[in-house]
Amino acid sequence: MNNKLTYNNILNFLTGDQAETEQLFMRSENVKSESIGRYTYLRGLIELSNICRKDCLYCGIRCSNKNTERYTLTDSEVIECAIKAYESNYGSIVIQAGENQSKEFILKIERLLKTIKKLTNNSLAITLSLGEQTHETLSRWRDAGAERYLLRIETSSEELFRKIHPDNELHSFDTRIKAIESLRELSYQLGSGVMIGLPFQTVQDLAHDLIWLRDMDIDMCGMGPYLEHKETPLYEFKDKLKSLEWRKTMTLKMIASLRILMPTINIAATTALQSIDPAAREKAMRIGANVVMPNLTPKSARSSYKLYENKPTDETKLFDMIENAGDKVCFGVSGTSKHYRSRINKSK
Ligand code: 5AD
Repeated sequence: MNNKLTYNNILNFLTGDQAETEQLFMRSENVKSESIGRYTYLRGLIELSNICRKDCLYCGIRCSNKNTERYTLTDSEVIECAIKAYESNYGSIVIQAGENQSKEFILKIERLLKTIKKLTNNSLAITLSLGEQTHETLSRWRDAGAERYLLRIETSSEELFRKIHPDNELHSFDTRIKAIESLRELSYQLGSGVMIGLPFQTVQDLAHDLIWLRDMDIDMCGMGPYLEHKETPLYEFKDKLKSLEWRKTMTLKMIASLRILMPTINIAATTALQSIDPAAREKAMRIGANVVMPNLTPKSARSSYKLYENKPTDETKLFDMIENAGDKVCFGVSGTSKHYRSRINKSK
């Protein structure tokens, strides 16, 4: 039973030498093929706004970064992106933005959800990635048509969480956990994830992250390497970071381990991984990931949505990459994870 893997088994996955890592990748590739098949789902990504009330010490769109031009897409721009996803047969979209709890923003999202659902005959699945929100807001958006939500824990170590966030009420580990629990209660398909290679982070922390994701019984995961950004406080520790090569390999090991731990969840091959090395994203799909998010954000706004430096703004080779990884690109399906489907059936 995969679920019976212990902390030590996982730590061994993450600390293995090159030959052991090849074994790990072979095993996770087999798990992917056998549990969910060689398919990759598409989610059209819409980066709706980079206005953010948070001040996370690692993130390029933190509110204290005055060198970022702030934007919010108009309703018609967002709808145009959604229609593009619909017409390209992507099956689903992700609406992502900085954290904003204003009444105006809450209503904008609600309005967009209803409009997009109507214009696409209810066939386009919508994931939101809009940070921490109150139970009431999350419930409102769920009623308006959102079925999935991504909220990364960033790190499951409360101690490390404190080191990478300002020390105040707005950046609280408990609040993050409560928001994740609300998503579960509201029967969203639940997505979370972590950053890999943060300053002060240990491999032990990463092994605990994987256990945390399993115990939260998530349906979807997005995790990628930490990439330093000059205009953030954590940049100060850039000399203490592990090499990009280390972060890339560790991200692949994390994806492989998670696939073995949770064979039927959806796992994204993230853009952050691509920005280190496009071949690594392809490798991620081969050894476990089954979701990619082609960026639909209008080109004019893309350069302002810089969570980290060297964020790729062009991804034309994405479909070739999926096929080279041995997968079929899945058009016209919403791509709900098998994990969620069986979780819901069990509770009926
Ligand atoms: N490097 C990598 N990922 C980052 N994110 C934010 N800043 C960085 C960075 N410097 C990720 C966080 C967040 C997601 C939207 O982007 O994990 O949840």
